[in-house]
Amino acid sequence: MYLYPKWIRLWHLLNALFCLMLIITGLCLQYSGKGRPLIPFDKAVALHNTGGIALSLSYFIFFLGNIFSPNKKHYRLKYKGLWKDMYTQFNYYMFGVFKGQKHPFPVTEENKFNPLQKVSYVLIMYIALPLIIITGWGLLLPDITISRVFGVSGLILTDIIHIISGFIISIFMIIHIYLCTLGSTPGSLFKGMISGYHVGED
Ligand code: HEM
Repeated sequence: MYLYPKWIRLWHLLNALFCLMLIITGLCLQYSGKGRPLIPFDKAVALHNTGGIALSLSYFIFFLGNIFSPNKKHYRLKYKGLWKDMYTQFNYYMFGVFKGQKHPFPVTEENKFNPLQKVSYVLIMYIALPLIIITGWGLLLPDITISRVFGVSGLILTDIIHIISGFIISIFMIIHIYLCTLGSTPGSLFKGMISGYHVGED
């Protein structure tokens, strides 16, 4: 099944690289005062800013692609039975996979994501990434950031939202990569993201 057209593979590669770069440089900024840093502070700032601008541009590939291509159908949530389906998939990840059970929601051209993938991809792509990008621009251009919100500094609030989104995206990335090893073979989903073709029924 051809599930990942060229634009998705290009966007995904750029997105993964920029996210990795931003997580590493972001951690260097966060822990800049402790001992010898992995990357010196001023270099980490420059790399983080460049990575943030690059991530914003690459997000447009995803956003526009998902407006103008049929891929958007995979991001439409159907609420009926969603909790039950998510629970079934969660149970599979927790227990079924270790008992060699079959995937409860095998991949088809109409449904390339299982319910947990679908919900997590929608939350990450349409809430967490926009939040981190908008707050990142707010920190990069402090003059455009609202100065006070309910008596609290707008910059501090922006910073807190930025850090929380970054933390969530980092955790997502670790879980995402682990769950991507649970295809027909440990490498099959990664190969699919390189060739565009999904192999196997799960
Ligand atoms: C080194 C890092 C990463 C690796 C190895 C990786 C691997 C993969 C693989 C193998 C797939 C295809 C399987 C599937 O459809 O679930 C996939 C899809 C996807 N990944 Fe990643 N990923 C990485 C980072 C990220 C990051 C940082 C994000 C978002 C912040 C992300 C978001 C997505 C999304 C939304 C899809 C579905 C794309 C679509 O078909 O519409 N990935 N990833």
